[in-house]
Amino acid sequence: MLRTNTCGELRIEHINKTVTLCGWVQKSRDLGGMTFVDLRDRYGITQLAFNMDENKDMSDKARQLSREYVIQVTGTVIERSSKNKNNPTGDIEIKVSEIKILNTAITPPFTIEDETDGGDELRMKYRYLDLRRNIVRKNLELRHRLALETRNYLDKQNFIEVETPVLIKSTPEGARDFVVPSRMNKNQFYALPQSPQTFKQLLMVSGFDRYYQIVKCFRDEDLRADRQPEFTQIDCEMSFVEQEDILNTFEGLTRHLFKMVKGIDIPALPRMTYTDAMKYYGNDKPDTRFEMKLVDMKSVVGGKNFKVFDDAETVLAICAKGAAEYTRKQLDELTEWVKRPQLGATGLVYARHTAEGIKSSVDKFYDADALKKWSEACGSQPGDLILILAGGEDKTRKAMSELRLEMGTRLGLRDKNNYSCLWVVDFPLLEWNEGDPNLLASLAGRWHAKHHPFTSPKPEDIALLDSDPGKVRANAYDIVINGVEVGGGSIRIFNKDLQSRMFEVLGFTKEEAQKQFGFLMNAFEFGAPPHGGIAFGFDRLCSLFGGAESIRDFIAFPKNNSGRDMMIDSPSEISDEQLKELFIKTYQ
Ligand code: AMO
Repeated sequence: MLRTNTCGELRIEHINKTVTLCGWVQKSRDLGGMTFVDLRDRYGITQLAFNMDENKDMSDKARQLSREYVIQVTGTVIERSSKNKNNPTGDIEIKVSEIKILNTAITPPFTIEDETDGGDELRMKYRYLDLRRNIVRKNLELRHRLALETRNYLDKQNFIEVETPVLIKSTPEGARDFVVPSRMNKNQFYALPQSPQTFKQLLMVSGFDRYYQIVKCFRDEDLRADRQPEFTQIDCEMSFVEQEDILNTFEGLTRHLFKMVKGIDIPALPRMTYTDAMKYYGNDKPDTRFEMKLVDMKSVVGGKNFKVFDDAETVLAICAKGAAEYTRKQLDELTEWVKRPQLGATGLVYARHTAEGIKSSVDKFYDADALKKWSEACGSQPGDLILILAGGEDKTRKAMSELRLEMGTRLGLRDKNNYSCLWVVDFPLLEWNEGDPNLLASLAGRWHAKHHPFTSPKPEDIALLDSDPGKVRANAYDIVINGVEVGGGSIRIFNKDLQSRMFEVLGFTKEEAQKQFGFLMNAFEFGAPPHGGIAFGFDRLCSLFGGAESIRDFIAFPKNNSGRDMMIDSPSEISDEQLKELFIKTYQ
């Protein structure tokens, strides 16, 4: 080893010890008589001290050090005269007797400290330097710990990790595939897996019984803070189980992770049906850290000649506790906020409930008695603010869900250190695809599997597949933490006939279904056990545990919002020779 200790471990009890440290020069301060250098490695920062009077030669060498030089120093641990309580090694410093420059460094494009001057793009371009920063490194350490504890828990539960292929077959279902041309098979393409779904089901047919894999998945979809084109799942599958068994097993995993990684005992996870989630939160991934439920006001506000409410399909309210003090300016600004194209509300009606009574923005139409009814419906108290949106059902519910979250944020109800976990269950099996931009255009105007085509309908709803497919509920569930869909899964179809029927409902011809998924349906004829599973979005789990919004900070080398890796500059063009070998023509 080139060192005896790390830069994070020396304390007061090490005084007088001779040590050798290696690391990067984070900062150097020349105070004339004394020069101080902060030496950084993965474990921390240790101060090196050089005294001009005691050792001029060494001090001169220290003065030549620039930021990010890689050095090796030997010296004695001494007590600091002015201690730094913010640094675990802040009680000591090293009186250096030998110094060796292991490598020089050109000036980094941004300061490599917790508070950096580097913008997002620059840090992504030089990600390897960004990763030297404490904050980013800690995120990856958290990720490592979560992966390790996941493996510990699942191993104890008899799960075994099996790797599934990365070059698979493109299927039109789900998001768009990333495809890879095959040189050896002219005009044919592999696809990168959106998830190992069919493989893990085949492993159940093989009798593996309990499978997991911490696995890369690839989806060519629009990117957001919580979506990357390549991301990681904790992917799991179990045989001979019902929904309840899966929920219990993975509630166990969630509790284990909170306990081991954050030292938190989380309460049992409540269950909420999809219908209730939409009704009370306008959202299938409700943030249950705070109440502020959506209240259906249609029957309360009608018949007062206020056309906006009378003509609306849906009128929804929320009661923001303690927000009656909101000024006119704040309310005008909130009105503009809900009118943004992303939400598209036509306006915002409000009522302030104060000790003097209730005053609304539509007092012309609603007298004190009418407003009392509003208050009763919303459960408002003096000091509260009622906010109402009206319009078409889907748009209004979605907008109200967003407004609820915004008010939750503004009122400080969404503390990232406070965790609220739940299961959302009984999802619809199908949803009508009006033309989802994340799907191939050819899939518009037909039913689409809300989870995926292998999800089993609730047995009591199977008859509705013919008469009213939209009403069929699935044995599908999501785990939601603080308004983030952290994972989702389902009990699977394991019967060939039901699986073909499902493909039929999804608009596949028999031939198409056989061509795309024949391997799975054939396997079902060889004794498929009842099975089900779940996949956790591992990056999302990491960002939640780390108290951050974006999953990018928890991925060593992430892509930007255009799907680009700024560091290696990918995707990139390939040579004509490569294209020719792959039988590919490019289009302008
Ligand atoms: P699903 O599509 O719900 O289920 O994905 C499981 C979880 O993966 C995470 N996730 C993502 N994370 C980051 N970037 C993305 N682009 C992204 N897409 C999804 C989410 C999500 O809950 N095979 C099924 C699971 C099963 O049925 O067992 C599946 O993939 O947190």
